[in-house]
Amino acid sequence: MTRTALPPSVAFEAAENEGSNPSHGPTIGDLIATRLSRRDLVKGLAAVSVAAEALWPKALAAAPASGEEKGTASRFNFVELPIAPGSKTHHVAEGYDADILIRWGDAVLPDAPEFAPGKPDAAAQEKQFGYNNDFLGFIPLEGRSDHGLLVVNHEYTNGELMVPGLAPRSDKDSQFSGVTREIVDTEMMAHGGSVIEIRREGGKWSVVPGSRYARRITAETEMAVSGPAAGHARMKTTADPTGTRIKGMLNNCAGGVTPWGTWLTCEENFNGYFWGKAAAEPVTKEARALRRYGAPGEWYAWGRYHDRFDTLKEPNEANRFGWVVEIDPLDPTSVPVKRTALGRFKHEGAGNIVNGDGRFVVYQGDDERFDYVYRFVTDGKVDLANRAANKDLLDKGVLSVARFKADGTGEWLPLIHGAPNKDGQIWLSAQNGFEDQGDVLIHTRLAADMLGATRMDRPEDIEVDPKTGKIYLMLTNNAKRKADQTDAANPRAENLFGHIIEITPANGDHAAPAFTWEILLKCGSPAVAEVGATFNPATTENGWFGMPDNCAIDSEGRLWVATDGNSTKRTGRADGIWAIETDGERRATSRCFFQVPTGAEMCGPCFTPDLETFFVAVQHPGETEDDAPPSTFDTPSTRWPDFKDGIPPRPSVVAITRKGGGKIAG
Ligand code: FEO
Ligand code: CA
Ligand code: CA
Repeated sequence: MTRTALPPSVAFEAAENEGSNPSHGPTIGDLIATRLSRRDLVKGLAAVSVAAEALWPKALAAAPASGEEKGTASRFNFVELPIAPGSKTHHVAEGYDADILIRWGDAVLPDAPEFAPGKPDAAAQEKQFGYNNDFLGFIPLEGRSDHGLLVVNHEYTNGELMVPGLAPRSDKDSQFSGVTREIVDTEMMAHGGSVIEIRREGGKWSVVPGSRYARRITAETEMAVSGPAAGHARMKTTADPTGTRIKGMLNNCAGGVTPWGTWLTCEENFNGYFWGKAAAEPVTKEARALRRYGAPGEWYAWGRYHDRFDTLKEPNEANRFGWVVEIDPLDPTSVPVKRTALGRFKHEGAGNIVNGDGRFVVYQGDDERFDYVYRFVTDGKVDLANRAANKDLLDKGVLSVARFKADGTGEWLPLIHGAPNKDGQIWLSAQNGFEDQGDVLIHTRLAADMLGATRMDRPEDIEVDPKTGKIYLMLTNNAKRKADQTDAANPRAENLFGHIIEITPANGDHAAPAFTWEILLKCGSPAVAEVGATFNPATTENGWFGMPDNCAIDSEGRLWVATDGNSTKRTGRADGIWAIETDGERRATSRCFFQVPTGAEMCGPCFTPDLETFFVAVQHPGETEDDAPPSTFDTPSTRWPDFKDGIPPRPSVVAITRKGGGKIAG
């Protein structure tokens, strides 16, 4: 069995980089382009890492760790964390505690057995905390900030860190050798989500044992379908001839919490779970549509034991994933609902706000290289006085896709079947392959292609500042953008480090057809001129970062960014949380607050309403860095059987609180 394959998170990133959007320009994403781009990527990384290695140690030594830079007062009152290239544990800024709340394998349901590392057990995993926790949402109970429900996405699994002897899932040479039915079923149970009840007592958080709210959602949990694609012919399968009942949710990445206290959990790289790559080029319309979504991706062996994950046997099953799922965490018997009106793509999150007119607005990124940014506006209004009245609010509304113009304005293009655009043209019609609104939503990417949306550098999280109404969009990177493919909103060719765009809705109206935008920040090392980073010069060597992924905007309107993809060689630092100024002369000044262990990525930033606790999620600690020599780790090995005491590093949720109490960075 080879050990030279990409580690899983890198494989996922590569998958997000498949470039399956062929619209508006030369076709890319074929094998040749992939090879070329990978070579360019390696070349680019090498150039940057050489420069970073040369500059970083000196700059770090000289960097003020106090965070007391010149200029007006920072909105973030904490002493900046000195960055470290690699570590076996997490680190937080001085004066804070960062305590692990729950880890993969810990009990969620009352009768969960003890965690037994290295022993796949689907029945046990179904009751235990799942793997790779991503989105976190805190839902207060009785309005409290010290007692509530934490909803957690379990995005994917790293078999090589869970089971001795398994190769990373990206290891095509292994042909999934050694992946038994029990392992597959354990992986399926480790996906989905968890609901846990948590309480803070004596300053410390813990999980309430035996909670009546405790719940595991898995890849087998029965779900309903609502909205225009429910019951559509393309949603029907052998097991579900009605097209209205689906088993499970897959690759739930980021999400959102609604003002009525439900959890929006978003299916991202669903394509990777399906088998059935045909040897020949796809010729049918259905196969071409699947290809636009990168399916079948064949990253897991699930298709070996479950026919529904083989597209040759069950061609419509893949259409039943890639949705936003709404779950009521207050009712553990409630059936999760796939809300098809919000579109089908590789959803990152569901940042949201109640518009001035009462309508509910959800902003969404489609995380793939050259894919799009979306907005959904409900027809109805939110009823904060009557929770039940919002039950089906997300089933009716208008999904639009963003076009960013060079003059700093932009427009939302509605994805409505049969509707003329402002020039009177009807693109989403039967003639163009869309029979009805269900087709438009099941094939959202294809519909957005027709309208000429702006092809972005991998849209990740997009969140609204509750104070100003401004919207912050994380674009994580796009190494494959070529010089002749740049545009105003994606201005860097070979964009290795990503950027952040600030969007302002016209007249403060989140339902308006127009907006203005500007780039808040181009990421990467400010010390390497070719990178073209635009951090405020007040930013220290600790303060810059690459690859923005998730973000949180706290109730005071302060932006916190979580990263995915920093590593020893890429940026000389692990992933973590950086706090970013968005106003005044300090705008685009960034400061490091938290760092994950080596090999992990940072997810789930989430605050309690009183701002006294900051929950973060640590994914895949111990995963081998793709481009770092083992000598940079202070763990002896990131492979079985060498884990200390036979226990692999475990994905975890961390609760950050201020020593002695008080607001985070207040
Ligand atoms: Fe799962 Fe786009 O990150
Ligand atoms: Ca993400
Ligand atoms: Ca990620």
